[in-house]
Amino acid sequence: MPKGLFGRVLTLFVLAAALMATLAACGGGGSGGGGGEDVSVASDIAYPPFEFERDGEPVGFDIDLMDEIGRRAGFTPEYQNVTFDGIIGGLRNNQYDVVISAMTITPERQEQIDFSDPYFNADQSLLVPSDSDIGSVGEIGDATVGVQIGTTGEIKANEFEEQGDITGEIRTFDTIEDAFAALNNGQIDAIINDLPVSQDEVNNSDGELEIVEVIATGEQYGIAFPKGSDMRQDVNEALAKIKEDGTYEEIYKKWIGRAPEEIPQ
Ligand code: ARG
Repeated sequence: MPKGLFGRVLTLFVLAAALMATLAACGGGGSGGGGGEDVSVASDIAYPPFEFERDGEPVGFDIDLMDEIGRRAGFTPEYQNVTFDGIIGGLRNNQYDVVISAMTITPERQEQIDFSDPYFNADQSLLVPSDSDIGSVGEIGDATVGVQIGTTGEIKANEFEEQGDITGEIRTFDTIEDAFAALNNGQIDAIINDLPVSQDEVNNSDGELEIVEVIATGEQYGIAFPKGSDMRQDVNEALAKIKEDGTYEEIYKKWIGRAPEEIPQ
């Protein structure tokens, strides 16, 4: 079909529009697409379903939540994969601006960093192979228990040791995926870890693993900032709307597989 002048001008317009869209997308700088400035967000990206890698990209509950917060607050999250046990130190040294890493809000951590309003309710859990003799915390005895270093699971395991429920070794791992691998290899006998993450591992275990006790700690996850960060308020405002307008429930269903019992406020 021969192109008239109008056709050529139209083609030019379409090309120009496409170019501008591409430039805008690049300016945003990456996955989140929030536009505005880039914000560097650290996470231990080995904690499914909250953060893990799929085809080399970070995905999960926390990633969807943070991307959505960025869209609403006008920034683009740039994710940085770090080990959990140094994540607070890095935040305090300004190696990144924000942490989202299924991180429990605790009074001890609040002395060092600031948290957003809570965004997830969780407990601890005792995970064992399905053919294990261990049926509860009280039955751990001298079995070897794995935990991720620097986590509330580790703190709980140490408490059980002091109470005399754990008399054997507590072995620490850099990531929970290393601990899961050790459990699957029979190198350790049990794992104490956040319930939703161990539940996800059970769901993918073909019946090989089971949770034999929910350890009710009533933990709540928060997004973390260096003390006095001016981002905290914007993040809280975006988070409140996300909880309110049904987006939170959508993200929850997508990654947890059911509706939340309660949305933390
Ligand atoms: N909620 C626990 C804590 O704050 C475990 C978090 C571990 N997160 C991670 N991405 N590995 O201590």
